[in-house]
Amino acid sequence: MEKLYIPVLAGTTREQRESIYAARLVAEVGKTFEEIETELVDPKDFVFPGDGNDPEGKDPRYTAITERADGFFIVSPEYNHSFPGSLKRMLDSELKNYIHKPVAFGGVSSSQWGGVRGIEALVSTVREMGLVATFTDMQFPKIQELFNDEGILQNESYREYVKGAWIELIWMAKVLKYGRETVESKHHKISQQADN
Ligand SMILES: Cc1cc2nc3c(=O)[nH]c(=O)nc-3n(C[C@H](O)[C@H](O)[C@H](O)COP(=O)(O)O)c2cc1C
Repeated sequence: MEKLYIPVLAGTTREQRESIYAARLVAEVGKTFEEIETELVDPKDFVFPGDGNDPEGKDPRYTAITERADGFFIVSPEYNHSFPGSLKRMLDSELKNYIHKPVAFGGVSSSQWGGVRGIEALVSTVREMGLVATFTDMQFPKIQELFNDEGILQNESYREYVKGAWIELIWMAKVLKYGRETVESKHHKISQQADN
């Protein structure tokens, strides 16, 4: 069976960002699953002129990633009880490439709440995009203590925790890929999906 492609989307371009350590850990754990291919997708690496999803507002490299993806793992910090504008801008740049694909969330904060309000804000956004949210969220609270200044994880039990979130996301990705390829929908052509 062809490997599922499930990229990890980092949530912020902030210069001193620490959530990137959590995003890297999620991608690293994802790479231990034989049945998937994953990579870190960093909003810093893309250019999205203006707002919206008109052709001139897209980055073709992000378009290709979302077209190919069988699901997404978003790891985002909480900014003012929501998620960062750079993540919203990146997500907004595409429309139909998200439909009937699963998404898992990792929330990050310096507080004890682990970005839960950022995740809650994401849920309504991704639902409008046709993405299907998993119910096994990850929280990375007190991010400054969880990783040291070199980005090394200080609590190894988090690897198992991340693994659990991946297992659920992969299950959802398999089921939804099967659905996209075999069950008719007005939102996508069956033959087109099967060629992926
Ligand atoms: C603009 C901004 C808004 C923030 N708002 C919140 C917040 O609403 N809740 C929270 O727990 N932490 C908040 N924080 C603190 C972040 O949790 C902390 O800075 C964390 O390191 C963010 O991830 P980052 O380092 O990748 O930016 C905020 C930080 C910034 C920069």
